[in-house]
Amino acid sequence: MAFIRLDIRCLYAILICTAFGSPLSSTTEIKVNPPQDFEIVDPGYLGYLYLQWQPPLFLDNCKECTVEYELKYRNIDSENWKTIITKNLHYKDGFDLNKGVEAKIHTLLQGQCTNGSEVQSLWSEATYWTSPQGNLETKVRGMNCIYYNWQYLLCSWKLGMGVHFDTNYNLFYWYEGLAHALQCADYIKVNGKNIGCRFLYLESPDYKDFYICVNGSSKSQLIRPSYFIFQLQNIVKPLPPDYLSITVKNSEEINLEWNIPKGPIPAKCFIYEIKFTEDNTTWVTTTFENEIYVTRKSNKSQQLCFLVRSRMNIYCSDDGIWSEWSDIQCWRGGIQKEILFFLITFSFVLFFVLLITCLLMMKQKALLKMVFHTKKEVFSHQETLC
Ligand SMILES: *[C@@H]1O[C@H](CO)[C@@H](O)[C@H](O)[C@H]1NC(C)=O
Ligand SMILES: *[C@@H]1O[C@H](CO)[C@@H](O)[C@H](O)[C@H]1NC(C)=O
Ligand SMILES: *[C@@H]1O[C@H](CO)[C@@H](O)[C@H](O)[C@H]1NC(C)=O
Ligand SMILES: *[C@@H]1O[C@H](CO)[C@@H](O)[C@H](O)[C@H]1NC(C)=O
Repeated sequence: MAFIRLDIRCLYAILICTAFGSPLSSTTEIKVNPPQDFEIVDPGYLGYLYLQWQPPLFLDNCKECTVEYELKYRNIDSENWKTIITKNLHYKDGFDLNKGVEAKIHTLLQGQCTNGSEVQSLWSEATYWTSPQGNLETKVRGMNCIYYNWQYLLCSWKLGMGVHFDTNYNLFYWYEGLAHALQCADYIKVNGKNIGCRFLYLESPDYKDFYICVNGSSKSQLIRPSYFIFQLQNIVKPLPPDYLSITVKNSEEINLEWNIPKGPIPAKCFIYEIKFTEDNTTWVTTTFENEIYVTRKSNKSQQLCFLVRSRMNIYCSDDGIWSEWSDIQCWRGGIQKEILFFLITFSFVLFFVLLITCLLMMKQKALLKMVFHTKKEVFSHQETLC
């Protein structure tokens, strides 16, 4: 397990926070102690850590002053510190546990007891890292998580390099709302080895940090765990749009339409990329709507085709994955004219055939009537169509 190294470098400075107006105050610098017992606590949430501390010593003398804490923290090796100013005695945030974590805090005192100016204590520091076990090469490789259609989360990975044959990996995950980290309940296996995880139903997991740890075990070596943090709305891969249609409005304007992919993603969250081909020129454009009007380059073009793919837009996520391309939908000018010509010709021929048949039959009927009247014999006969 992990361990904590608490490191209070700055031992308590002399505290002279005497009551305002004492003879000392005009000559002596006012000082305040750093917070006590500053520590980084790992509650087992795979990267979500608690930073906590106690008030500085001898604060009782500074009743007329406001006490605040300036907290700075970062992953070791990252360039920037995050800075928080708070009156609380704790702070929580997510960290990348593949690396160490460092934090420092000092007391800020301001008010009557400091004669209005701000007094800062020395820093109190703490660091934290999970005990680095196993070689770096034993980590899983190529971790890839996709949240299909904002419904099904699936993660997959490759085994570490040169790991012993008995090595197997396990995935644990946590996000705010879960009481503790959970293990994957539905592993994807190849030859008995876990190489992925299908997540079962997740209750409101988006728009918050999702923490994953893939660790492993082997009888003959230690396996280095890997940590991942992402937000699910940023790894959504939607379904491709379907029911594409092309309507050629006139010789210049074309309307392209398609259906919003089915599922829980709201219509306003999509951006579409359209690949449009007119004869043999192709261009690509994007739109937020599920239709677009395009202008034909030439009214003689014989073939217009398009396909669409979808993605989450910037109003709903910071990032996303393009869906697969939809099926292609085409309009063929030439062929349509041919079909139209064929249909018209066929209709005319049919009409004439029917007309002639009717005329012939009417004539036959009249003839029969004549024969019937003259000979008074009944000829059984077929009914006419007309
Ligand atoms: C407090 O401020 C007043 C005027 O601003 C100054 O005369 C006095 O010396 C200050 N006292 C201390 C302890 O700094
Ligand atoms: C893997 O991580 C989980 C969650 O932190 C922990 O409970 C488990 O003991 C770890 N397994 C190994 C082999 O380190
Ligand atoms: C591109 O279109 C032109 C006529 O518009 C045609 O002559 C040519 O063969 C086409 N090229 C290809 C690769 O289809
Ligand atoms: C086709 O376009 C040309 C110019 O681009 C125009 O002169 C002609 O009238 C158009 N034909 C039809 C049938 O609209």
